[in-house]
Amino acid sequence: ACLMKGVRHLSDSGITRLPDRYVLPASDRPSVLAASSTAAGVGGVGRVKLPVVDLAGLRDPSQRAAVLATLDAACREYGFFQVVNHGFGSDVSGGMLDVARRFFELPLAERARHMSADVRAPVRYGTSFNQAKDAVLCWRDFLKLVCQPLREVVPRWPQQPADLRDVATRYATASHALFMEVMAAALEALGIPQQAAAGGSGGVLGELAAAASHMMTVNCYPACPQPELTLGMPPHSDYGLFTFVLQDHVEGLQVMHDGRWLTVDPVPGSFVVNVGDHLEIYSNGRYKSVLHRVRVNSTRPRISVASFHSLPAERVIRPAPELVDEQAGNPRRYMDTDFATFLAYLASADGKNKTFLQSRKLP
Ligand code: SIN
Ligand code: FE2
Repeated sequence: ACLMKGVRHLSDSGITRLPDRYVLPASDRPSVLAASSTAAGVGGVGRVKLPVVDLAGLRDPSQRAAVLATLDAACREYGFFQVVNHGFGSDVSGGMLDVARRFFELPLAERARHMSADVRAPVRYGTSFNQAKDAVLCWRDFLKLVCQPLREVVPRWPQQPADLRDVATRYATASHALFMEVMAAALEALGIPQQAAAGGSGGVLGELAAAASHMMTVNCYPACPQPELTLGMPPHSDYGLFTFVLQDHVEGLQVMHDGRWLTVDPVPGSFVVNVGDHLEIYSNGRYKSVLHRVRVNSTRPRISVASFHSLPAERVIRPAPELVDEQAGNPRRYMDTDFATFLAYLASADGKNKTFLQSRKLP
């Protein structure tokens, strides 16, 4: 029962020592250099200002090509970029962070109404990364909201705070629109033609306009008494096409780049966007779904909202035919995948040894 109460509860109780079940084995602690870093003197931890994709530039015909080139390079080299000038009103994104913070301030009993072991539940409150499987727990509590089909799921979302449904609906709607715009740009940068790209029929954009998967997790990382012994989220890559992360002014997200963990500088009013496994597969490896993790600290709680966008769960994902050319030395690099394959992977022993993406690579 104690386990289910989560870390916000622990932090509020004023503990000064990290409980044993949150203490990572020495080899997994955040200060340990990345495995691939031991080779050539690289390694350690640095800071990064991610490549910036200017949405206003993307909307300006005279600048679009240059912005597409930036997006393309970012997806190849980092798998991450920062989106600015996206046109989200600060009431929408600031409002979302604010209602997120107020949700985690609710009494535990109110938050706990939404606890569920069912990974497909439209609302799920929980703690850690995968609380049923994690050998060591992570310093994170979360509220997961399925956002699609929006009209059907909103009535299942929490009724407290009283404005949550309203604020999160506006946020989810804007996030989906932003995703469609970024996805259109990525497809153009990859050179994959879309008929009726405005969202009619034809191509992946047409499919996404008709049906998409969209899920959001609202994350709370309270101040932690011994942050060097634990993580807010373990190293992972995201399942899906693109993830959009909105965060407050507290740093914590780290991305793997050239064998080093780089701490992302929070840029107020921006989104951190990353390529997910589906886009790496669909792009036949041109775009990278990279490992990232979250560190916590001893003084400042952190709130983030991650929006996961992709094709519907049952859709089979495979490399785009336009990007495969067996003759020209560009063979197909990934197996077909779908949500059932992903769930089977999570349930299998492989889950410990390699990432899902690695398990889908063709030899
Ligand atoms: C993630 O969803 O992987 C990270 C979210 C965050 O920055 O807290
Ligand atoms: Fe992630």
